Amino acid sequence: MRGVIFFTMAEQLIIHTGDKATRYATLLPQLSSILESETDAIANMANIAACLWETFHFWWVGFYRVVGNELILGPFQGPLACTRIRKGRGVCGTAWAEAKTIVVPDVEQFPGHIACSSASRSEIVVPILKNGIVVAVLDIDSEHLNTFDDTDAKWLERIADILSPTL
Ligand code: SME
Repeated sequence: MRGVIFFTMAEQLIIHTGDKATRYATLLPQLSSILESETDAIANMANIAACLWETFHFWWVGFYRVVGNELILGPFQGPLACTRIRKGRGVCGTAWAEAKTIVVPDVEQFPGHIACSSASRSEIVVPILKNGIVVAVLDIDSEHLNTFDDTDAKWLERIADILSPTL
């Protein structure tokens, strides 16, 4: 018996070549549009990770979900990563415990940093809140020092805000 084959239109990400604020500004409405038409949390985290990676070519970009008393690895782009992180541990667990964005210019200077990859040199972790509770974190690693600043924090928090209702 023949099955029905569903075809979907391929999404074409438009990437601006300007500075990072311009890239984020071009990316955000596209992510909003993708999330408007999809309610599944895993699908949305996967597409956000893919779009951030395709736009900025970060070393590692992905999500950890709060499950019980730990973070569990979610959709990501990049090398193999640690699967579980306790609350208060590493940059991710600290961002969860403090419910705030953490920018780490040099991971070697962050006490307790968890080195999933020895190539990672700087990092940003943005908590994703739902009804005031952290339900996941967005984690981005760079192989360069000092990659992230307030511009990244501001735009990534906006991305966290549009993802939050689907989690
Ligand atoms: N460096 C993180 C662990 C996750 S990996 O970077 C993907 C941390 O210290 O929490």
